[in-house]
Amino acid sequence: MPFKNNLIGISQIDFNLKYQTKQKFMSRLWILAISVMIVVLPSHGTVMASDPSTTQVNSLQELVDRFDSSSCRECHEQIFTQWEKSHHSRSLMGINDYIFIASYLKKGPLAIPSGEKATKKNFPCFKCHFPQIEFATDAVAAEIARAVLDNDKVMVRKLNIGCLVCHCEKAVVHGRPDVNVIYGNNDIKDHPERPVRKSPLLKNSLMCGQCHGLGPNLEFETPVQCATLYGSYLHAYIPSGGTESCQQCHMPGGDHYMPPNFNNRAELSERLRNALPMQVRALAYSFQPKEEDVRPMIVVNTKIFSKAGHRIPDG
Ligand code: HEC
Ligand code: HEC
Ligand code: HEC
Ligand code: HEC
Ligand code: HEC
Repeated sequence: MPFKNNLIGISQIDFNLKYQTKQKFMSRLWILAISVMIVVLPSHGTVMASDPSTTQVNSLQELVDRFDSSSCRECHEQIFTQWEKSHHSRSLMGINDYIFIASYLKKGPLAIPSGEKATKKNFPCFKCHFPQIEFATDAVAAEIARAVLDNDKVMVRKLNIGCLVCHCEKAVVHGRPDVNVIYGNNDIKDHPERPVRKSPLLKNSLMCGQCHGLGPNLEFETPVQCATLYGSYLHAYIPSGGTESCQQCHMPGGDHYMPPNFNNRAELSERLRNALPMQVRALAYSFQPKEEDVRPMIVVNTKIFSKAGHRIPDG
């Protein structure tokens, strides 16, 4: 048998759902339904030869420093403030500021007896929630696991999708990004710190699709499934004539806040009201089966439209 597929139940994943909106709850069901499958591959010892340009750091602080974007604030104040309020700035923190990855390290197929025992294999979720892990050794994975299990929020908040994740690491499809440049919409050779190089990917939905998922991530020893929204965009929205990109809808004027923000319930409700307008048509009449028996009746026809470029809820 080439491989064994073993579906593990979802009950082990203990999310604190009680604060979440129903909408978000539905969205989270996708994640709760993460079919954490164990795939035993015949020869999982095969490792791809590593690219010599991708050096790996040995300490968490070095990794944080390598992707540190705090210097960008000085000149890109507005964008920085927008980003700070976005979900991208807290990609390991769930709603209401809890470290969601902790429950996975305690129970289930990714669990470990102690932080020291963790390796990068314990973090398939980092493919999208903290892709920088690619530049770190297993020792760094163990440091992260210790911070997570110690509930060290100050450290875990530093592990986010910062400026350089999108403007360097995720801005190139073919080949490795040049770590000495920042990718943007234009070439700016004299940009402070490093030159800006034009990347055609930045305005493309694929840029977001790299993380906002297509389906199960089967490349891991413990495959996971979380966000699948890019699949819905490609296979439903585009074939039905959709023309807008993720950026056009979610980053008007280059806004990096990228709502919805699930921690701001009033704003979220307002956005959903606008995104999912409901049309109601009603017809009232009376039904008289017998002479004395007049029954008021109503026919209500409702239709909910979606203005989104994909299924909602999704991710
Ligand atoms: C989730 C990915 C992502 C993150 C994180 C991100 N950016 Fe961007 N940024 C983009 C994309 C995509 C565009 C291009 C948007 C467009 O042109 O429609 C962009 C555009 C820009 C632009 C050009 C804006 C314009 O008006 O043309 C600047 C400057 C910029 N980003 C700076 C930053 C800084 C500084 C940070 C960190 C605080 C940051 N970005 C974080 C994805 C990101
Ligand atoms: C000393 C000021 C300064 C600092 C620091 C700085 N930038 Fe810029 N950046 C600029 C200026 C000025 C421009 C050109 C005008 C503009 O587009 O805002 C620019 C342009 C950009 C663009 C290209 C916008 C386009 O046209 O596509 C990106 C992307 C960008 N910066 C990202 C960053 C990131 C990421 C950092 C932090 C690593 C950073 N910048 C730090 C001043 C700065
Ligand atoms: C490096 C991976 C990555 C990239 C690239 C990326 N995202 Fe995200 N995005 C995430 C993750 C992870 C979250 C959830 C973070 C959290 O709340 O824990 C998120 C959250 C969001 C949210 C908030 C809603 C929600 O369900 O949390 C929106 C909207 C969003 N992203 C849009 C975009 C758009 C538009 C782009 C492209 C310009 C983009 N993202 C690029 C990983 C990414
Ligand atoms: C035609 C406009 C449009 C396009 C294109 C679009 N979106 Fe959305 N998206 C919306 C609307 C509207 C919502 C509802 C929430 C809101 O308005 O904040 C939404 C919600 C989301 C959410 C939250 C999902 C949830 O379950 O609540 C994420 C994440 C997201 N979009 C990411 C993306 C990404 C990534 C792309 C590109 C692959 C994309 N969107 C393309 C309009 C769009
Ligand atoms: C293919 C990329 C990808 C992988 C792999 C992935 N996620 Fe996600 N995850 C996302 C994106 C994008 C979002 C934001 C959109 C959404 O809300 O669904 C998200 C959102 C979440 C959220 C909601 C965050 C919030 O603010 O409430 C949780 C919790 C989550 N993921 C947990 C996990 C866990 C646990 C794993 C590993 C078992 C994992 N994810 C693996 C892409 C991924």
